[in-house]
Amino acid sequence: MSLLDFDAPPDSYAVMGNPIAHSKSPTIHQLFAKQTGQRLAYQAILVDLGGLENAVGNFVGNQGKGLNITVPFKEDAYRLATTLSKRARRAEAVNTLKFNADGSLYGDNTDGVGLVRDLTQNHGLELENKKILILGAGGAVKGMLEPIMASKPDSIVIANRTVTKAERLAIAFEDMGTIRGCGYEMLNEMGGFDLIINGTAASLKGELPPVPESVITPESVCYDLMYATEPTSFMQWCLQLGAHNCVDGLGMLVEQAAESFFLWRGIYPDTASVIEKIRSALIANY
Ligand code: ATR
Repeated sequence: MSLLDFDAPPDSYAVMGNPIAHSKSPTIHQLFAKQTGQRLAYQAILVDLGGLENAVGNFVGNQGKGLNITVPFKEDAYRLATTLSKRARRAEAVNTLKFNADGSLYGDNTDGVGLVRDLTQNHGLELENKKILILGAGGAVKGMLEPIMASKPDSIVIANRTVTKAERLAIAFEDMGTIRGCGYEMLNEMGGFDLIINGTAASLKGELPPVPESVITPESVCYDLMYATEPTSFMQWCLQLGAHNCVDGLGMLVEQAAESFFLWRGIYPDTASVIEKIRSALIANY
């Protein structure tokens, strides 16, 4: 932007989803923009089910520059994108769209790299050579597998209620390393894991996936993709079993946003201060 552009409207971004009212993305991106001196607007847009293509078309028509896409539209966004990052192609889901001047629509998925950055940079856990257990085999898990496997863990086990889903997912990623899918009862024979990631929707309902206690050791890092004002039911269960390091997914939320921001603006915001602010606001509004 030159001085002559001073009166031009700020570059426009948004998050689209359904529901969307409680999205923290506008706050996070406005904090990033302020911190990095970027002039941009970021809003939350509620989109009708089946209405993503129209909504994206309208947004582009109004000179929008980029979008975050959240539940339940990530697979629709994957189909809309004209070019895709490798990780989005593997996830078959897109959470970030960037509109290019030539009219192309670039789709990326920053969820998995956001998780890896939170684990490695914010919590000091290297994933290389680690034994990782992932609970659940839905869209959230599929979205994070490429960056996790690219971190070269020793092995990954995916456990799920519906065993075939876990098995299928493992087969889809076996070219990247040692990975297997199974049911929860099989975990009884596998001993402890270095990292256990809860990617099920169980915490949303205050429920626990049926994991045997033997997978958790005092050294296990336990990570819930969900976050709340208090430790999730999964985190509380892990703490009771003696795991010292139990983490929720708030850091991942901010890190995936930072990756989107970088893709759009070419500048990487400081995330630690933003995580702190979002955490304080979460507790204050409880
Ligand atoms: P998301 O996009 O959040 O991943 P999803 O694709 O519907 O949502 O997947 C939800 C995941 O949570 C699935 O792995 C589901 O297990 P099933 O495939 O067997 O249904 C898992 N899940 C949901 N509630 C659960 C519970 N109470 N206990 C264990 N797993 C649960």
